Amino acid sequence: MQEKILDFLKRKQDYVSGEEISHRLGVSRQALWKHIQELKDMGYDIVAMPHLGYRLASVPDRLFPSEISYHLNTKFVGKKIYYFDTVSSTMDVSVQLGMRGSPEGTLVLAETQTKGRGRLGRSWFSPKYKGIYLSLILRPEILPLQASILTLFSAVSICEAIKNITGLEAQIKWPNDILVHHKKLGGILTELNAEMDEVRFVAIGIGLNVNNDKRTLVSGATSLKEQKKENIDRIELLKEILRKIEENYLFFQEEGSRSILEKWRDYNITLGKRIKVFCHRQHIEGVAVDIDADGGLLVRNDSGLTQKVTAGDVVHCNQRQLKIYS
Ligand code: BTN
Repeated sequence: MQEKILDFLKRKQDYVSGEEISHRLGVSRQALWKHIQELKDMGYDIVAMPHLGYRLASVPDRLFPSEISYHLNTKFVGKKIYYFDTVSSTMDVSVQLGMRGSPEGTLVLAETQTKGRGRLGRSWFSPKYKGIYLSLILRPEILPLQASILTLFSAVSICEAIKNITGLEAQIKWPNDILVHHKKLGGILTELNAEMDEVRFVAIGIGLNVNNDKRTLVSGATSLKEQKKENIDRIELLKEILRKIEENYLFFQEEGSRSILEKWRDYNITLGKRIKVFCHRQHIEGVAVDIDADGGLLVRNDSGLTQKVTAGDVVHCNQRQLKIYS
């Protein structure tokens, strides 16, 4: 009922009498008053005026499922949303849900995480009500070794959404870093539940610094607020990310990886650079020449040998960018 009341007030955009709401939604005046009090407690600014009724003045800066679903217009992404004020990690929840058979598109959201995790065993700092921390379950029909492509199209989707909502040009550092002006804005963690030749499900974890103040950011990191010098609407940004992920995922299913890779090349800052990739206590040094159809990075060393890297930490060596990929 709360969702219906909110929907009604949003559509009216003006005062509407309690009598009209009760009549239209089939709820008693007493029950309506109780729901309005609960919504106010959640942070909704609902003004009540004698003789005029109720008006929704503003919605709280919270990623409530009812706000995310409102005019989301996706086919399957975000149709089922699990929301936590505090959780250990949205990845933990989504992996459990995935194993219990939750459908493709199931979304897990949290306002803060006590054990947010990043790649390679790192932790992900998740200050409350400041960022976007989500995990999304997908069930793609791909081989486990093609899973990197999911990280790539998620990264593309995030850059597209950031551009649409804030106008900022974000960039991608292979494999999973989202940067603005060479500072880290966010990251993607893709966890796979698979057999040798079949992916059962994938949990895509996204962490983004949105309204973090400069002083709370670790060195080398940035937030959208720091870049734009204003608060960003987390709800609108999150909805746009979900829409773009669905759009690119469907595109990938219909057209294969080529179209996504083309977009990825436009956003990336790794190709053409001299890099060092650290993986499994060793490193490969050379020039990042391209990515292949599965999202692996192709690195050409000084002897001219090209190696494919599927995971690792990339450091860009300070060198002029060489445009050598086709
Ligand atoms: C990275 O850059 O290493 C990836 C960071 C991914 C962080 C997100 S926040 C939401 C989801 N839950 C987690 O515990 N991690 C991911």
